[in-house]
Amino acid sequence: MLYEYRIIIGELEYPYYLSDNTEDFIEKLKKIGINSAFIVFDDAINVDYVTGLKKLVQKEISCEVVSVKVSEKYKSLKEVELISERLLELGINRKSCIVAVGGGVLGNIAGLVAGLLFRGIKLIHIPTTVMAATDSVLSLKQAVNTRLGKNLLGMFYKPEMIFTDHTSLLSLSKRDYNAGLAELVKNLVSVIPQQIPELYEILNDRVEYTFDEFNLFLDLSIKAKCSLLKRDMYEKKEALVFEYGHTVGHAVEFLSKGEIKHGEGVAFGLMVESEISHELGYLKENEVDIHYKLLEKIGIINQLSNVEAYTKDEIWNVMRHDNKRGYITENDGSVPMVLLKSLGKCCGEDTNYIKLVPKPVFEKSIKKVADRLRNSSRIFSKID
Ligand SMILES: NC(=O)c1ccc[n+]([C@@H]2O[C@H](COP(=O)([O-])OP(=O)(O)OC[C@H]3O[C@@H](n4cnc5c(N)ncnc54)[C@H](O)[C@@H]3O)[C@@H](O)[C@H]2O)c1
Repeated sequence: MLYEYRIIIGELEYPYYLSDNTEDFIEKLKKIGINSAFIVFDDAINVDYVTGLKKLVQKEISCEVVSVKVSEKYKSLKEVELISERLLELGINRKSCIVAVGGGVLGNIAGLVAGLLFRGIKLIHIPTTVMAATDSVLSLKQAVNTRLGKNLLGMFYKPEMIFTDHTSLLSLSKRDYNAGLAELVKNLVSVIPQQIPELYEILNDRVEYTFDEFNLFLDLSIKAKCSLLKRDMYEKKEALVFEYGHTVGHAVEFLSKGEIKHGEGVAFGLMVESEISHELGYLKENEVDIHYKLLEKIGIINQLSNVEAYTKDEIWNVMRHDNKRGYITENDGSVPMVLLKSLGKCCGEDTNYIKLVPKPVFEKSIKKVADRLRNSSRIFSKID
């Protein structure tokens, strides 16, 4: 089965294929117009999968592979340089293409390599996590971390195509699968709330989904992302809503040095930032509840115990380096965030989609999350 989508971001466009047959990739690769392919892959992926892919590609053009050890720790400019030098040693040239096979971390690193090598060569993503397939490849953003925070060094760079091979997702852990669904929950509450009832029926804490259900997740993610990115490709206006849940989320993910998965951070961030939206007089209480219900339905709340390790001050201090700084005039006692006015509606208009959140509001909101999670039999102590 092969599904085809067109991703339209601003004036740019690229095809997205979802298949359950790796061989479909070759037919699509032939259309790209390249003389060689360089597969950059996450070394956690089954090596037989990558060897099989390489053999397929070699039937058409020359192909080399570079394996990368993936973690937030290695999501750095140093890694970008090391991979680029390895690719140059292997003979990469201006008519080559980088094929990024991996999750969001690998895709972001390889995306940046593609954007920088020879000032830009062709890029194809084969996303192998739910997060990458339904979220990160639906944006032009490529970035790496610095000592001070996540995704602070990067660029916008368009891929030639996306090919999601559903067979590659089968080896993904339930924990990582669920982490990917956190972004879908974010899209549901922030852009397409009308889809919540249909999705609520399908989401489950067994983390068991069919190919067709995955295709529905993808279809909805594409609709949500493209509906805003077509007008705001650089994600500086209304598409900033995709950062909802990410200020708090990035902070705990960063503090944990990657032990808390990106999607787990986002799940926690969605709860805290929904409470903040309520505290500031925007979201109604029942709208905040919907955040918890969806996250409970996928079972991700049970994955969040690591968040307890950090104090409110630690989280606050990291948030002060968040990449949304600079949109509006700030002061020492507040942090800029993207908030919701109501389900499906971002707070703000025109160019002002960022709100300043004072520290006491953040502290009260995170305490409310801790109390609610404690009542659902989780023990949160430090963030009290
Ligand atoms: N550019 C964007 O717009 C954007 C959007 C969302 C997320 N991101 C970035 O993506 C990253 C998170 O992505 P992620 O959740 O995919 O994390 P990830 O890339 O770290 O992958 C999660 C884990 O799954 C492993 N893995 C990958 N594919 C596998 C497979 N098929 N089978 C078994 N294991 C596999 C990885 O080695 C890793 O341990 C973060 O760095 C985040 O900042 C970027």
